[in-house]
Amino acid sequence: MDSVSVNYAPPRHVGTVDDCMFYHSIEIPNYGLIDGLSDMRPSLPILFDPVNFKGKNVIEIGPASGFFTFEMERRGANVTSIELGPDMDWDYVRHHDGLSEDVKKQWQADLERVKNSYWFGHERCSSKAKVVNGTAYDVKRLGLSAEIGLLSNTLVHLHDPLGAIASLAASVTETLILCDAEPYTGSRAGTFFRHLFRKKCVAEFIPRHDNKKNIHTWWHLSAPIVEEYVKILGFTETTLVYFRSGLTKGAAVDQWAIIAKKPAGLRTV
Ligand SMILES: C[S@@+](CC[C@H](N)C(=O)[O-])C[C@H]1O[C@@H](n2cnc3c(N)ncnc32)[C@H](O)[C@@H]1O
Repeated sequence: MDSVSVNYAPPRHVGTVDDCMFYHSIEIPNYGLIDGLSDMRPSLPILFDPVNFKGKNVIEIGPASGFFTFEMERRGANVTSIELGPDMDWDYVRHHDGLSEDVKKQWQADLERVKNSYWFGHERCSSKAKVVNGTAYDVKRLGLSAEIGLLSNTLVHLHDPLGAIASLAASVTETLILCDAEPYTGSRAGTFFRHLFRKKCVAEFIPRHDNKKNIHTWWHLSAPIVEEYVKILGFTETTLVYFRSGLTKGAAVDQWAIIAKKPAGLRTV
């Protein structure tokens, strides 16, 4: 496998929230609470309380506005986040007749404003977290390593979510924290299937040939798929919890969270 060089994103000074798009609802020191698109605060007792972050290195995929980054630092971790760099494409759903340049430009502009929100918080939280330009598939090739890996709400955006899990798992020595949306999240009609799928290794495929507006979302994996796969990769001690996170302008999201540990001394090849 070819290695790729580690290219750190230079910190940005962002003076005003007007230049930002906040993905996360987040409390910024000396500024206050900002309402974002997603409120992950209910997830902290589930995702982070069972993990000891003190003095640990963390690789985080897809920090968005940094809610998890700054929280893990507050708990004593050294965080390196991987975020799409300026010349890196989102894992777009591409139709046979191509991607509309206008849609792509708008998506890229929004991502820049989300990155601004990260740096707005980074400066005000006196964060020491680093951002590496890369994709979720690159962790292994970048040669990064850490005791803890966090991959939350990003699997949905990848055509090969298992490839991304494998890449992160290969670089993490102790604990994987994984979280994403359940199949049929938010759909009242889908409640029956959601509960059925909690027992099955199944995935909901989101793209549709007649909906070119969805260029960003691929899969809603059931938790058993991910739990089974991380065990295959050697993270054999798993805890699975279902919970709901909040969307500012929409329904709550039904989510699963898996904390997976690799037993000390487990042989990996
Ligand atoms: C929906 S947000 C999730 C933010 C945060 N991890 C959470 O759970 O709330 C998705 C994040 O993943 C990033 N992302 C999307 N596709 C990616 C890819 N192929 N490689 C790396 N990061 C990606 C986005 O830019 C964004 O920061």
